[in-house]
Amino acid sequence: MSQTPNPLGSLLDFSGKTALVAGVLDEHSIGWPIAKLLNDGGARVALSIQRKAVRRMLGTIPEQLNNPLILECDVSKDEQLERLFDELGREFGRLDFLIHSVAYAPPQSFQQRFLDIGRADFQLAMDVSAYSLIGLARGAFPLMKDRGGCILAMTYYAGEKVIPGYQLMSITKAALDNIIRNLAYDLAPHRIRVNGLSPGPTATKAGTSIPGFDIMQNHMKQFAPLQAEILNSDTGKAALFLCSPLAEKITGEIVHIDGGYNILGMSVQRPPVE
Ligand SMILES: NC(=O)c1ccc[n+]([C@@H]2O[C@H](COP(=O)([O-])OP(=O)(O)OC[C@H]3O[C@@H](n4cnc5c(N)ncnc54)[C@H](O)[C@@H]3O)[C@@H](O)[C@H]2O)c1
Repeated sequence: MSQTPNPLGSLLDFSGKTALVAGVLDEHSIGWPIAKLLNDGGARVALSIQRKAVRRMLGTIPEQLNNPLILECDVSKDEQLERLFDELGREFGRLDFLIHSVAYAPPQSFQQRFLDIGRADFQLAMDVSAYSLIGLARGAFPLMKDRGGCILAMTYYAGEKVIPGYQLMSITKAALDNIIRNLAYDLAPHRIRVNGLSPGPTATKAGTSIPGFDIMQNHMKQFAPLQAEILNSDTGKAALFLCSPLAEKITGEIVHIDGGYNILGMSVQRPPVE
């Protein structure tokens, strides 16, 4: 008897699609498995990196992708955003997926009391970590509007609740969450969906630079209902779902990939399962 192909397979077939992933620094970056899985599904992927000097940190990433484009763009510079989308337009012609995986806050802002957050640090962190989603979405819009698309941004639970140590970065995540919802509304008539992914702490360059990162990660592992370590591949799989037609009526959502940590009102140690 001949085997009939699985009809559900086509739902994760991204052949003929294109993606821009902004913020892959190295193989530990959250954006990396997202780029790889989209590429494995058939999409052609462009990575945008902050500047030429960080290119060597990509290591073998370009070789692991099928015909990737590697572009440079500091997301706080309008002229660089413009050049990025000019280059993408020339090379891809259109864009189906935009993945925002970029954040920065000056190191001293993590050491200070929240009360002492300075104006210049605030402006820089908000610009790079939150406003950049508007800048990237505006650049992507002309390349997406004819056949719709999907925009995803990486956020964190500290934008919803106080996570000691996350400081200034928590304000940028609260702003990012709001930008996700407003862009979702604004772009919905063009069938462009905008969602957020909110992973638990994972050991990336940005993650481990936050004082108390280990405490955040251990607390989650210990108390999240699923009591599991969050892997970047978990976020990659959720991204794949949101980019696929399986999620075609989902927009403006923040999906937590945290083993259920965010549903807790109180952390208690569970008795061992018998
Ligand atoms: N690691 C975690 O625990 C965690 C949890 C939830 C959300 N996030 C979010 O995931 C996203 C990706 O971070 P990551 O953890 O993969 O760390 P990462 O250090 O691998 O990635 C951060 C990226 O931001 C880029 N970047 C910083 N300033 C930039 C600028 N001006 N222009 C362009 N790019 C710039 C860096 O070059 C880097 O590629 C961030 O938004 C982060 O807040 C991380």
